[in-house]
Amino acid sequence: MNESSHLDELLASRASSTRRAIDPCTVVIFGASGDLTARKLIPALYHLAVERALPTPYRIIGFARREKTPDSFRSELLEALRKYSRTRTVDESVWNAFAKNIDYCQADISEAAGYGRLKQMIQSASDEKLRNNILFYLATNPSQFGEIAEHLSQVGLLTKCEDGGCLQRLVVEKPFGHDLPSAQQLNAELIRHAHENQIFRIDHYLGKETVQNILTFRFSNGIFENLWTRDSVDHVQITVAEKLGVGSRGGYYEESGAMRDMIQNHVLQVLSLVAMEPPVSLEAEAVRDEKVKLLKSVRPMTPADIARNVVRGQYFAGEIDGETRPAYRSEPKVNAKSNVETFVALKLWIDNWRWSGVPFYVRTGKNLPVSASEVRVQFKPAPNILYGAKSGVRLDPNSLTLRLQPDEGIALRFNGKVPGAATKLQPVRMQFSYDTEFGAYTPEAYERLLLEAIAADATLFIRRDEVETAWAIVDSIRSAWTDKPLTNREFYLAGTWGPTASDDLLGTDGREWKHPTV
Ligand code: BG6
Repeated sequence: MNESSHLDELLASRASSTRRAIDPCTVVIFGASGDLTARKLIPALYHLAVERALPTPYRIIGFARREKTPDSFRSELLEALRKYSRTRTVDESVWNAFAKNIDYCQADISEAAGYGRLKQMIQSASDEKLRNNILFYLATNPSQFGEIAEHLSQVGLLTKCEDGGCLQRLVVEKPFGHDLPSAQQLNAELIRHAHENQIFRIDHYLGKETVQNILTFRFSNGIFENLWTRDSVDHVQITVAEKLGVGSRGGYYEESGAMRDMIQNHVLQVLSLVAMEPPVSLEAEAVRDEKVKLLKSVRPMTPADIARNVVRGQYFAGEIDGETRPAYRSEPKVNAKSNVETFVALKLWIDNWRWSGVPFYVRTGKNLPVSASEVRVQFKPAPNILYGAKSGVRLDPNSLTLRLQPDEGIALRFNGKVPGAATKLQPVRMQFSYDTEFGAYTPEAYERLLLEAIAADATLFIRRDEVETAWAIVDSIRSAWTDKPLTNREFYLAGTWGPTASDDLLGTDGREWKHPTV
């Protein structure tokens, strides 16, 4: 075998796209009477069943405090499925077969005997793999994660395995802590009973096709990656905008705010995928190593940097699409004097060889004019000497926009000549649309994530050092806000793009936000 064919083979094995067969698995959902189970988990599992993606056999056991029979649990789930399934209609024959695999274990999370009953239920399966290969999905309050893991370990349902051949796994929902010390504490509690390989921390953004496509786009194409450096990129904008306000989630939001709710997880995840170095392979650890390395290169901010480079905001009453929106302080369960931020814009520097000197502007907020998330890579402008000078205007710099949602796609913007005798230029776009190209394939993020967790592939989940590094970034900024009430400049009208300070953040650099449109 010559050297190049050997290399080809090595590369092919690293890029293998076929998943190994998924072993039979029991999925136990803690918090089975909750919203997440009804809205996301059961619909996702049902759609996986429709697509025949689940292993044979599989089992789903709901664990919750409320008194119900397996039958009444199933009927509740069917009702929820009719409401929340992405296809709305439920195929009766698929549902009937699916429902046969669902069971219910009624117990309180702190009741030791309940775990004994759960064990009996799991052990009653005739298939050995169903008895041992177990996914525990903790859709509960994070304060209960440690307790659940401890009980599971005590009854022998969760065994910590050091060698990577781990059969039982824990899937944990966000928020994973509320700052670095609490995340470390939570990690320490889980690590007592499970190896890091067995812990799957969810960030549902990683389940989105378009977010996964960031790596594919960057590393499977020859032309873009060469431009993806400080030599060609002027700056990067990441916008995760939401048209909805906080609504009924005021109680949760008062404890979190936009920084913890969105920046610590979703936005920093997108940033790390956009900016990371190519991983040595597509294996979970290789990808996650690079993400952590990137997060570690985000320049820590001094208080003076924070004052200059961080904008927080809170929405005031306003109007969106003719609908009046109350001020954040008037939302249910929100303190009338709350200083919690519903908007954040940041200028971040990434201190590594590739990105030195390239600012990354990121923003997220509630009650903004549209719901849309996108990454815009703006390239350095061409010299103005030829066309710019002639047309008397500054040339539009090229940009590449990765639209994450909705209208998923990628657009490249460049200058074109307007037909006619005059030398008139106009920015035009080359556009790829997922819908047009691949049809309306819109699986929910949870479908992909559940399937990956069942298959024990951790690539799309957050590793311990990743979550802790993200908290360190967010904590250092939040600490500068302690005891600093919002000033008038920090409020924005619902339905606008945040406080004016957000525009100034780019304006002082001679740049401007490009707002996504829908
Ligand atoms: C959640 C946040 O993690 O993400 C919510 O808690 C936010 O506040 C949601 O609305 C946004 O997710 P998506 O998929 O609608 O962009």
